[in-house]
Order: sequence, then structure tokens, then C-alpha cells
Amino acid sequence: MEGQTTIQATLAVGAQLERLRNALESEKLPTADIELPDRTFFEFTLGGNIVGWGGFETYGADALLRSLVVERAYRSKGVGTSLLNVLEVKAAELGIIRLHLLTTSASSFFEQMGYESLPRGAAPSLISLTEQFKGLCPGSACYMSKALR
Ligand SMILES: CC(C)(COP(=O)(O)OP(=O)(O)OC[C@H]1O[C@@H](n2cnc3c(N)ncnc32)[C@H](O)[C@@H]1OP(=O)(O)O)[C@@H](O)C(=O)NCCC(=O)NCCS
Repeated sequence: MEGQTTIQATLAVGAQLERLRNALESEKLPTADIELPDRTFFEFTLGGNIVGWGGFETYGADALLRSLVVERAYRSKGVGTSLLNVLEVKAAELGIIRLHLLTTSASSFFEQMGYESLPRGAAPSLISLTEQFKGLCPGSACYMSKALR
């Protein structure tokens, strides 16, 4: 991210949420439940340019990290790593102790960020009852989890 400033996070509502929906559709990631309660999404900018989105669904001290998308033009430059770092800080500020996620294609990205692959049965019950676990994500998706410091 040479020569650029820090990542700015804006709570995604209205137009930001619609841009997130479009980005998720482009990546064939779930959108059906993004406006349900307990979801918090952010739109991220860098030097005034929109570079991505991401958020989480909160269930007490546990949250499902989801919908992390980096704009294609900004991939493989460390932006995804920065966005995930920001999301983890925001989650920790909200009292979240452990993040959970499902991914079909980016498990090695999350592994590099300290997420551990686990059997789906190891997920807390509230996480296993989320729309993503119940059906929006394919059964082949890898379940991963990380404790926040
Ligand atoms: C996954 C994603 C967010 C990564 O963003 P990014 O900005 O390219 O990531 P970074 O540049 O910070 O990459 C960090 C490391 O992860 C690796 N990586 C990046 N994307 C990866 C992917 N899809 N699968 C496996 N590894 C990946 C990179 O090789 C890099 O490692 P390296 O620097 O040692 O080579 C981005 O590829 C994306 O938006 N994908 C589509 C949506 C998606 O699958 N989201 C995850 C599901 S929630």
C-alpha cells in the first residue's frame, strides 16, 4: 500500500450497504440476510477510494466474521489484511472475544491471520444457528475461529 494513508471505516448503511450487496453478489457470497438485526458492516476507504467491505454478526462474546471483500483492483496489496485487522479491533471494542467464519476460497488468507480450521461441530450453538451456517454457505465451506486478544 505504498504512499497511501490509513484505512478509514464507515458504518455501512444505505448506499454503502447497497455497494456491499453488489460486491457480495459479484463474489457469489450471501446477501439474503445482510439487513437482519445484529449485523454490523463497514465500508473501507483508503486515500478517499473505496477499497472494500466487511463486518460481523454478534452473538454475545462470539461473532461471525463475514462479507469481507476487497475491490479487485486493490487485492494482493495487503488491503485485506488491513481490513481484517480493523474488523478485529472493532469487534474487540464491542466486547467480542472470539471470531468465527465460514469460507470456501480464502482459508489460507485467514490461516495467515491466525484463524484455525475446526470441524463445524466445534462452533458455539448460536454461531451454528446463523443463516450462513444453516444454509447460505455451502456445506463444503471451511469453519475457522480465532480468539481476540
Ligand atoms: C480474501 C480477500 C479479502 C483477501 O484480500 P487481499 O487484499 O487480496 O489480501 P492481502 O493482500 O492482504 O493478502 C494477504 C495474504 O493472503 C493471501 N491471499 C489473499 N487472498 C487469498 C485467497 N482468496 N485465498 C488464499 N490466500 C489469499 C495472499 O497471497 C497474501 O499472502 P502473501 O502476501 O504471503 O502472498 C480478497 O481476495 C477477496 O475479497 N476475495 C473475495 C471475497 C472472499 O472470498 N472473501 C472471504 C470470505 S468471507
